[in-house]
Amino acid sequence: MSIRGALKRVLRILVIGKGAREHAICWLIQKQRPECDLYCAPGSDGISQVARVLPQFRLDIPFSRLTELWVEIGKLRDWALRQEIDLVIVGPEDPLAAGIVDSFQAVGLLVFGPTMAAARLETDKGFAKGLMREIGVPTAPYELVENPNPAAVRRVVRRFWDAGLVAVVKPSGLTGGKGVFPAATDEALEHAITKLLLERVHGGEAVHSIVVEKFMSGEEASLFAICDGEEFATLIPAQDHKAVGEGDTGLNTGGMGAYAPAPVMTPALVAEVGELIIHPVLAEMRRRGTPYRGVLYVGLMITQDGPKVVEFNCRFGDPEAQVVLPLLESDLAGLCLAAARGWLCEFGPLELDLDRAAACVVMASGGYPGAYQKGKPISGLGEFGTWGDLMAFHAGTSLRDETWVTDGGRVLGITALADSIPSAVQRAYEGVARVSFAGEYHRPDIGHRALARLGVAAE
Ligand code: GLY
Repeated sequence: MSIRGALKRVLRILVIGKGAREHAICWLIQKQRPECDLYCAPGSDGISQVARVLPQFRLDIPFSRLTELWVEIGKLRDWALRQEIDLVIVGPEDPLAAGIVDSFQAVGLLVFGPTMAAARLETDKGFAKGLMREIGVPTAPYELVENPNPAAVRRVVRRFWDAGLVAVVKPSGLTGGKGVFPAATDEALEHAITKLLLERVHGGEAVHSIVVEKFMSGEEASLFAICDGEEFATLIPAQDHKAVGEGDTGLNTGGMGAYAPAPVMTPALVAEVGELIIHPVLAEMRRRGTPYRGVLYVGLMITQDGPKVVEFNCRFGDPEAQVVLPLLESDLAGLCLAAARGWLCEFGPLELDLDRAAACVVMASGGYPGAYQKGKPISGLGEFGTWGDLMAFHAGTSLRDETWVTDGGRVLGITALADSIPSAVQRAYEGVARVSFAGEYHRPDIGHRALARLGVAAE
């Protein structure tokens, strides 16, 4: 079948996940293909505005409860077969780590996402660092501590210090974006050891090995490549704001806001990353018999010596997806289908909206990323959808008796499109000002690096 024929046939699409990233994916597909039957499992009340949600399938179970997650994957696979789903798009990393793609492919379903073996680029940082070292991909120098104990981690970190380097301690497994522990002092090192190895805050599996690497300074950027095992196409680069506090201070979160395009990633740098990083990684994964299909999220540090890989993720970033996807003009479902089938070169060049910019401000529950309360009524959301290029992507909300209430740490991603980064940032904050809930917290300085580069003072 030709790609055109296949694209016409894609009428039944299932998206996996329930966060703002999956809301953005469903929002775009619904906008581009209103004729499709679009499902989201488990979805959320927010996502139910654009897709049919399937809360009976608990695909939000974390990887640490693998047996339960497998049961849910099996139930959803049987449902997808019965419904003759044409294309499955997997949002979060946990079902990918659990092998949802392998399970669905085994019964003939078409899935956009990497197999369990290919997803190791995210789920096993020791594996990813080893692969990069082997093929010469630029990244920070590191040592891997296998079956780590506190004494072994201390020994390795002190070797970095003796060499005059600041060390960063990272568990190899999944940590929900909260697994980076800078270790510049004894106190910071002991904090990392206590959290990771004594309290086991990310569970035992996440610390089956620990990467100790050199701290890199520079500006971070996120670049998403849509990969079909051989070819790839990059989307507009974005920048996340991982720290909870203004000026990039405080604890790391899943991401407090984002904007795109990130001016630090010039077109020349994007091309360089493709050549020096994405292309060789895809070739090596293919050579190892585990071709990579899906989104390859390249987390980068733009250092004085050029771009270096901070980490790979095997899915769209969140909140970055909320700013990158609205700037994608190509048919997202068609693109995912082409990549899943290995047909990216037949899809043709991507159409990206290069004339506009997007900014997203995350509204969070007070206390996040620590303890927070749920169930706070949210006002002002009813107006969204009537403001043109201003979107409210739901990360952690639910509808209770027709009232929106908070239901997570990150609650909403208020995303604006405009003709420049300063205008998009300003418009996103106008949206934030119209929404409120008790204890609401957001960073006031989303986009500060881009605004400084552009010579605009942050408000
Ligand atoms: N925004 C960081 C992540 O998605 O992992």
